[in-house]
Amino acid sequence: TVLILDFGSQYTHLITRRIRSLNVFSLVLSGTSSLTQISSHNPRVVILSGGPHSVHAPDAPSFPDGFVEWAEGNGVHVLGICYGLQLIVQRLGGVVVEGESKEYGKMEIEVKRESEIFGKGRVGEKQVVWMSHGDEAVKLPHGFEVVAQSAQGAVAALENRERRIYGLQYHPEVTHSPKGMETLKHFLFDVCGVSADWKMEDLMEEEIKVINKTVAADEHVICALSGGVDSTVAATLVHKAIGDRLHCIFVDNGLLRYKEQERVMDTFERDLHLPVTCVDASEQFLSQLKGVVDPEAKRKIIGKEFINIFDEFAKELEKKHGKKPAFLVQGTLYPDVIESCPPPGTDRTHSHTIKSHHNVGGLPKDMKLKLIEPLKLLFKDEVREMGRILNVPVGFLKRHPFPGPGLAVRVLGDVTQGNALEVDEIFIQSIRDAGLYDSIWQAFAVFLPVRSVGVQGDKRTHSHVVALRAVTSQDGMTADWFNFEHKFLDDVSRKICNSVQGVNRVVQDITSKPPSTIEWE
Ligand code: XMP
Repeated sequence: TVLILDFGSQYTHLITRRIRSLNVFSLVLSGTSSLTQISSHNPRVVILSGGPHSVHAPDAPSFPDGFVEWAEGNGVHVLGICYGLQLIVQRLGGVVVEGESKEYGKMEIEVKRESEIFGKGRVGEKQVVWMSHGDEAVKLPHGFEVVAQSAQGAVAALENRERRIYGLQYHPEVTHSPKGMETLKHFLFDVCGVSADWKMEDLMEEEIKVINKTVAADEHVICALSGGVDSTVAATLVHKAIGDRLHCIFVDNGLLRYKEQERVMDTFERDLHLPVTCVDASEQFLSQLKGVVDPEAKRKIIGKEFINIFDEFAKELEKKHGKKPAFLVQGTLYPDVIESCPPPGTDRTHSHTIKSHHNVGGLPKDMKLKLIEPLKLLFKDEVREMGRILNVPVGFLKRHPFPGPGLAVRVLGDVTQGNALEVDEIFIQSIRDAGLYDSIWQAFAVFLPVRSVGVQGDKRTHSHVVALRAVTSQDGMTADWFNFEHKFLDDVSRKICNSVQGVNRVVQDITSKPPSTIEWE
C-alpha cells in the first residue's frame, strides 16, 4: 500500500488515482492521523501531500511525533510533495522561510546531482514542472541533499538516501508536469521496489469473499436501485456474491426521465439478471407534490414517500422469507468517505464532510439494517471499470448523473405542470446525435414557471420558457457551462418550440458553478 497523508492539497485525490492507475493500491488518510492509524495500514511508502498552509502557521497540520523514526525503523520510504517537502525540512531541523518571489505555475527545473529520485545519468537535465508554493526550503536538515533546483535557485527536489526520505517541491501528479508521472513511476517501482499487482479483478474477488463472509447463508439483503451507475454496479457485485438473496427495488416516482423505467429495467433484467421489483408509485408521489413549490419541501416529501415504499418492500420480504432483511447495499464511493485535512480556518472537529444530497432521501432508521458498501474504496472511474468487468453495458456506465428528486427540482414550482419530459428528451437526444454526450458531465432542460408572449402559426401565444443547462465538471463540486455551436442551439430551440405544446421560448444557462449551482432548485 502507498499511503497518502493529506494536508489539504487540491491534488490529493488526483495523486491517489494516478498511483492506482499504475496498478498500485493507494489510500488517503488525514495528515493529522495518529501513528497507530498510519502503521495499521502497513504501508510500503508514505506520501506527504501538498496543502494550502504555511508550515509556520499556528494551526499548520503535521505528521505525528515519531513518524519519521517509525518509517526508518520499518524500511518505509517517505516522499514529501510541496507542503510535504517543507514539513520534512522543518520538522527535521532545516529552515523554511517565506519565499522572496512566490513560485506559481509552470517552471523549469534542473537536476543538479546524481540522485535516486530522478535515476542515474540525469544530471543537467531540465524539465518543466508545475509549482505552487509561497514558502521555500533555504537550509536542509543534516544528511539531505538538493538534487534539483528551479531557475531562480529554489530547492525543487531533495533526498536523504540513507534515511529513505525524498521531497519534490512541485506537483508530479498534474499533467502540467509532463515528466511527473515518469518520476513518480521510477520512484515507486525502482526506488521503493513496489510491485504493480493491484488489479480490479482481484479487488472484486476479494470483495465477493468479504460479502460472503459477512452475509450468513440464510440472510437477505436489500438494495434500492436509482438507475445510476453506482447503485447498479454495487448491486451487480453483491448479486454475483450471494445470488437471489439480494432483493432490489426500483421506484418509479413519476419524476424520472423520458421512458426511464423501461430503459433501466431492461438493463437490470435482460443484461444483468438482477432480481428487481419495480414499483410504479408515480401517482402517489405526484399527488403529494401537487401545488408544492418550495424545493426543500419537495425533497422532504419525496424522501418520506420513498421510505414508506421501502418499508413496505422490506415487510413483504419478511413475510415471504420468514426473516427480516438484515443488510442494505449502498453505492457509496471513496470520495464520500475520505477524511481529508480541512482547509485553514475551518473547524477541525467537524472535518467529516457531510453529504447533503442523498439519492433516496434517507432510509428508515428503525429498520436497523447493516450496511454493505462494496465500492467504498473506489473512485468513480474505477467503479466504471468494475462495471465493465461485470458486463454492465458501456452506454449505461457513461450515463450522466441524475438527482434523486429528478424532475421535481427541474420543473421550477409545481412539478405537475408542463411538458418537461419531452423537452428534456429532445435536448438529450440532440446531444447524443451530435456526439457530444460523453463530453458533457450533465445536461438537462429546466422548465420555468415563467410565461412569455410569442407568435406561433400566426397566433399570439402566452407560453412557458425553457432553459437548457449543460455543464462540464470533474465531480459536480465546481462546473463550467458547455459551449454549444450556434447551429446546434438553433436546431434544438426550433425542435422544442415546434414539437412541445405550451413552450414558445428557449434560453441557455451560461453560468458556471460557483456562483450558480448545477441544478436550478
Ligand atoms: P448542485 O445543483 O448542488 O448539484 O450544483 C451538484 C450535483 O448534485 C446533484 N444533485 C442532487 N443529487 N439529490 C441527488 O441525488 C439531490 O437532491 C440533488 N441536488 C443536486 C446534481 O444533479 C449535480 O450532479
